Amino acid sequence: MPEEMVTALKDRDFTGKIIRPFVTHEGSGLANIPKEIKEVCKGATVLDGLEVKGSTVNSARNRVEDWI
Ligand SMILES: Cc1cc2nc3c(=O)[nH]c(=O)nc-3n(C[C@H](O)[C@H](O)[C@H](O)COP(=O)(O)O)c2cc1C
Repeated sequence: MPEEMVTALKDRDFTGKIIRPFVTHEGSGLANIPKEIKEVCKGATVLDGLEVKGSTVNSARNRVEDWI
């Protein structure tokens, strides 16, 4: 996860919040982002994320809608 995201999210209270990670990438998928979010966003419930490869984004509408 980009350090900017860690800086923006750490030290906040996520008690009672639900986070669903969404990432674009060019091959790394979700990598270890769900694990990092669980560590950084204290109190949050982290549900399944969705990864979309940037080069396939134009055909990803159905996957995104299903996930939402
Ligand atoms: C500095 C930088 C490094 C990145 N490194 C990776 C990487 O190692 N693996 C990967 O799958 N995506 C990486 N990405 C993300 C993809 O480049 C990007 O999400 C994807 O091409 C989709 O384009 P978008 O960012 O416009 O949505 C990186 C992005 C940036 C800005």
